[in-house]
Amino acid sequence: MQFGHSVHGPLLGIETSCDETAAAVLSPGGAVLAEAVLSQSGHAAYGGVVPEIAARAHLAHLPAMVADVLARAKVRPADLGGIAATSGPGLIGGLIVGSGFGKGMALANDLPFVAVNHLEAHALTARLPGLVPGGAPFPYLLLLVSGGHCQLVAVGGVGRHRLLGATIDDAVGEAFDKVAKLMGLGWPGGPALERLAMQGNPRRFPLPRPMLGRAGCEFSFSGLKTAVAQLVATFPPGALPVQVAADIAASFQAAAADCLADRADHAMRDFAAPERLLVVSGGVAANATIRTALAKAAERRGFRLVAPPVRLCTDNAVMVAWAGIERLRLGLADEMDHAPRPRWPLRELAA
Ligand code: KG4
Ligand code: ZN
Repeated sequence: MQFGHSVHGPLLGIETSCDETAAAVLSPGGAVLAEAVLSQSGHAAYGGVVPEIAARAHLAHLPAMVADVLARAKVRPADLGGIAATSGPGLIGGLIVGSGFGKGMALANDLPFVAVNHLEAHALTARLPGLVPGGAPFPYLLLLVSGGHCQLVAVGGVGRHRLLGATIDDAVGEAFDKVAKLMGLGWPGGPALERLAMQGNPRRFPLPRPMLGRAGCEFSFSGLKTAVAQLVATFPPGALPVQVAADIAASFQAAAADCLADRADHAMRDFAAPERLLVVSGGVAANATIRTALAKAAERRGFRLVAPPVRLCTDNAVMVAWAGIERLRLGLADEMDHAPRPRWPLRELAA
């Protein structure tokens, strides 16, 4: 491990890139001193995240949340070792709120500021002290599966990420949400769809598995989603029998799990590392069928599957603070004029 620079005090992390407002304080060694996550509730009526509502809610909740985590961690702002805020990719309104707040606080207290890339924060979560027995040394494979992202990444170090493949259309979480919506299950759809699938037969409807067996590590979910839409459309609107709905949910979930396992298998086949780790992160990593499929795929290739607890897979500020610590240890603070970026691919991240 390379500790070029020391971190002089606890790190405050701020996450506001989508619809979770989150703040956390970590000790310089990475112990979680206090954390808070607020999943905004104002979007459900619209069936998706409304950027303007999200930005206003971040603004309404973030100041009190930061005061609360600092109080619970018993840390005064001036005693912090730095502030890390997600600065992209994500919804620009929320990014401006979180990074602006973080920079203001850093400036007022003469602290280093770290502009964290949200994808790198997911990527480095596995290295939180105590999470993986024996640690998660670089390099390792990351499968990031959320509502906004679906990609396989070779994580070679801080600022050193090689994208092996990403979705060419929908993210897998987006596919769960769209399928749930067309079955009338509400939003976000992933958890509701998983609950319904528990009562269903995953083999009743043979749905397509896009990309299965194809070379490379790219994903595609729109064909699977369309196949479900066509199946649902064979029933009169609102008249899907309960058992049919459960069987469709289970069949869709099985197809999605097969696709993810197949893509991960391709990535593992070509990935050489002393420690063979496959890390899965993002909201979809909460899905038990998908975790099981990935665990089996990993075992076949002699890899260990690392699935952090769900609260660290979904958007949170612990991972942002931790990414800040990893960067500060390498002396990688950012300037105060760092502009938040709605698009910020990992390949444009410098170490
Ligand atoms: O990482 P996340 O909280 O937010 C971002 O999109 O960045 O992921 C949310 C996504 C949603 O699409 C949601 O439907 C999906 O994760 N999800 C699930 C489950 N829980 C959340 N998908 C399948 N099964 C679940 N149990
Ligand atoms: Zn995320």
